[in-house]
Amino acid sequence: MPYFMSLCVYFLMTLSPVRTDTITEDIKVLVFLPQNNSYLFSHARVAPAILYAQQRLKANGGQFSGFHFNIQFENSDCVSVNDALFVLVDRSCEQKPDLILGPVCEYEAAVVVRLASHWNIPVISAGALATGFSNKDTEYSHLTRIAPSYEKMAEIFTAMFEHFSWKSALLLYEDDKEARDCYFTLEGVYHLMTNFNIKIYAVNQEDHFDTDDILQNIYDTEVVIMCMGADKIREIMLAAHRRRFTNGSYVFFNVELFNVSSYGNGSWKRGDKYDSDAKQAYASLNTVTLLRTVKPEFENFSMEMRKSTEKAGLHDCKDCGSVNMFVEGFHDAMLLYAMALHEAMKNGYSKKNGTAITSNMWNRTFEGIAGQVSMDGNGDRHGDFSLMAMTNVEAGTYEVVANYFGVNGTFQLLPGFNADHFTLRGRHKVHSEMPDKSCGLGVSALTGVIVGAVLGTIMLIAFYFFRKNYRITIERRTHSEEDDTGKHRQLREDSIRSNFSAA
Ligand SMILES: *[C@@H]1O[C@H](CO)[C@@H](O)[C@H](O)[C@H]1NC(C)=O
Ligand SMILES: *[C@@H]1O[C@H](CO)[C@@H](O)[C@H](O)[C@H]1NC(C)=O
Ligand SMILES: *[C@@H]1O[C@H](CO)[C@@H](O)[C@H](O)[C@H]1NC(C)=O
Ligand SMILES: *[C@@H]1O[C@H](CO)[C@@H](O)[C@H](O)[C@H]1NC(C)=O
Ligand SMILES: *[C@@H]1O[C@H](CO)[C@@H](O)[C@H](O)[C@H]1NC(C)=O
Ligand SMILES: *[C@@H]1O[C@H](CO)[C@@H](O)[C@H](O)[C@H]1NC(C)=O
Ligand SMILES: *[C@@H]1O[C@H](CO)[C@@H](O)[C@H](O)[C@H]1NC(C)=O
Ligand SMILES: *[C@@H]1O[C@H](CO)[C@@H](O)[C@H](O)[C@H]1NC(C)=O
Repeated sequence: MPYFMSLCVYFLMTLSPVRTDTITEDIKVLVFLPQNNSYLFSHARVAPAILYAQQRLKANGGQFSGFHFNIQFENSDCVSVNDALFVLVDRSCEQKPDLILGPVCEYEAAVVVRLASHWNIPVISAGALATGFSNKDTEYSHLTRIAPSYEKMAEIFTAMFEHFSWKSALLLYEDDKEARDCYFTLEGVYHLMTNFNIKIYAVNQEDHFDTDDILQNIYDTEVVIMCMGADKIREIMLAAHRRRFTNGSYVFFNVELFNVSSYGNGSWKRGDKYDSDAKQAYASLNTVTLLRTVKPEFENFSMEMRKSTEKAGLHDCKDCGSVNMFVEGFHDAMLLYAMALHEAMKNGYSKKNGTAITSNMWNRTFEGIAGQVSMDGNGDRHGDFSLMAMTNVEAGTYEVVANYFGVNGTFQLLPGFNADHFTLRGRHKVHSEMPDKSCGLGVSALTGVIVGAVLGTIMLIAFYFFRKNYRITIERRTHSEEDDTGKHRQLREDSIRSNFSAA
């Protein structure tokens, strides 16, 4: 018997050095995705990517093959705010999850991340893009954002404003008072552009769409940044064209991160009598969208995604097989977690030390499924964006004219780029070219560390200069508070500490 024992010890000792790099661990993962296929991040689209990543981690035979992921999917749409929270609590009665992926929608994510941070569980989401989440000091301490937030998107604007010496902008957005994507998108711009004169104009869906009032607000600004449905954008552009605002004295942008096919070539075309006017008007309209990259490995991934949606027989789901930012993001989330957990365990921490794992995920660069993924020191991904502009006014066709790389704050100019197009006529001196080198993103240093006090000051200044606008917003809020749903929304608004519309 003693001989047997020592043999065992001997074997363990000889075996263990071989195994040091492959750490074995069971990991319980809870994933929140909507079942409703109208979302770009629905379960049908994203789940295959998570499973693909799981298989790759296991199959590699490499250092992560000892991780056994037990993945549970739960429904979380963007309508019933607390459902995801309740699921998390219910699923944690026996054993808490070790990792949470999602939710994507801001309000759902806010409650889940708060509880997860309190429970020391890492959360990775390809959503939760609102500015409020960049405050990681307290309630969102365990959140890692694997897709570029709206504030990261805003950097492309600050860089352009500084280069072209633009001073003022009108942020024009449509507020659906539900998921509020456009509201959060331009909130990111608002927060980052503290050095410029910014006016806000919200269009409520149920309200009358008053283009005259909008043009009135455009009049004394230089740049118009819009986030709205394609039809409303066309209406505004047509009205602006009628009033000769498209003569080069103003620059128009719209932000369409995910569905750029709805802009680009022929997006002005509706088959009505305004088509030719619209085409001319759209010559002044530029689109900011996500930069799409492809690399060889991506082809296989892309094909596998298409195959799995075909296998599932999803006919109700139009282009469910196509890969978008959310699909990529949740795939890369699995890789990032595996790397961080491995590092933490090598340092002697357990999978239950969410703080250690989370900090290992931040401030690191790795190879994701579509290209390099670079996380900043605040656990938010740097973003790459493309700028599209009309390059052939005759044909009315659009092209990507410049790419912006968030990791080093630089632009890459493409052949279609024309500096004149972005130079305000009769207002400022002409700059010949955008620099290829760093654009000195002084303002973006603020990213992620915008403190309440600073915000308060901005609000006061904004109030002073734009009292008219302030009154509009307040009136609308007071009005909506009259009914219960208004109150409910107000609570939801406060729940992610977002001060944008309160200004
Ligand atoms: C899915 O979401 C869309 C838009 O939010 C909604 O109109 C539709 O009713 C939802 N479908 C189901 C089955 O809940
Ligand atoms: C363009 O039109 C605007 C508004 O009508 C006008 O104020 C401006 O002077 C015009 N600019 C040029 C260069 O014609
Ligand atoms: C993308 O835009 C097109 C055209 O506006 C629209 O028909 C389609 O529903 C949009 N897709 C998504 C996922 O929003
Ligand atoms: C628009 O058409 C041009 C020329 O046909 C093409 O080069 C460009 O890629 C198209 N742009 C988009 C956004 O589809
Ligand atoms: C993707 O790669 C895997 C492993 O290399 C392979 O088994 C699979 O057939 C490939 N898929 C496609 C669609 O080529
Ligand atoms: C968790 O990890 C941190 C380092 O990130 C360490 O300071 C802390 O002591 C660890 N907690 C436990 C309970 O091991
Ligand atoms: C990120 O890592 C670099 C070195 O890799 C270090 O110099 C820097 O201080 C880190 N930043 C944060 C915020 O931790
Ligand atoms: C900035 O980063 C991009 C993407 O990583 C790279 O292609 C480009 O060369 C970099 N530019 C500079 C000036 O470092």
